[in-house]
Amino acid sequence: MAKSTIASTAWRLVLSFLSLAIAGYGIYILIQYPSMTDSADFAVKFQGLNPFFVQSHFLGGALALITACFQLWSKPGGACHKFIGYAYVISVSMAAVGGCYLACYSYLGWSTGAAFLTLDVLWIFSTFYGIFSALKGNQQAHRRWMMRSIAMTFAAISLRLQIPLLMLFIDGELAYLIVAWGCWIINLIFVEIYLRRKKY
Ligand code: HEM
Repeated sequence: MAKSTIASTAWRLVLSFLSLAIAGYGIYILIQYPSMTDSADFAVKFQGLNPFFVQSHFLGGALALITACFQLWSKPGGACHKFIGYAYVISVSMAAVGGCYLACYSYLGWSTGAAFLTLDVLWIFSTFYGIFSALKGNQQAHRRWMMRSIAMTFAAISLRLQIPLLMLFIDGELAYLIVAWGCWIINLIFVEIYLRRKKY
């Protein structure tokens, strides 16, 4: 097997594992947050918010990660790829609508809310632009925009990896502020470098 095939399979395995783990965490919070009683638990704050948007975000986010994971392994252009692709778009839409609402109540106010709101808008834009490109038959634009969309879906993973890492060195609130922006900007930089290298 060629070195590049081994590297690509290894990357997909790691990303699949992380996607499924964070999706599981999202489902856990979805089920548990209404009955949480410990006021020290951060998820208790969601009980005071509109359940439609909160649950739409948690469920849509988890499904977006699961469908993105399946899409990493599907054969482009096949019936399975199209079916998972539409499920991905519905999931992203659910998560992003809820995400815009949650951004208005973000932990540190506008400084982190603006980061999440920008991410939501770019997430929706790249996902729909990617789908319209495929419908118009422009496969290159479809690939590029869906890779950007998936990089933003994986911001949910980066966020939860970066926070504990940064908190080893700096105060929790500053870490959260940095990560709210860094969790998606770094992913987008990586994907742009990849797209340029591969000349996709
Ligand atoms: C990629 C775009 C996303 C945006 C813009 C976004 C936005 C947000 C916002 C604003 C909050 C509230 C945080 C706060 O109060 O500061 C939140 C919390 C949360 N989101 Fe997302 N989210 C995204 C993706 C996802 C995905 C894919 C999942 C899947 C698991 C997810 C699961 C959660 C969970 C479980 C919480 C509860 C708090 C936590 O664990 O940090 N989100 N999200």
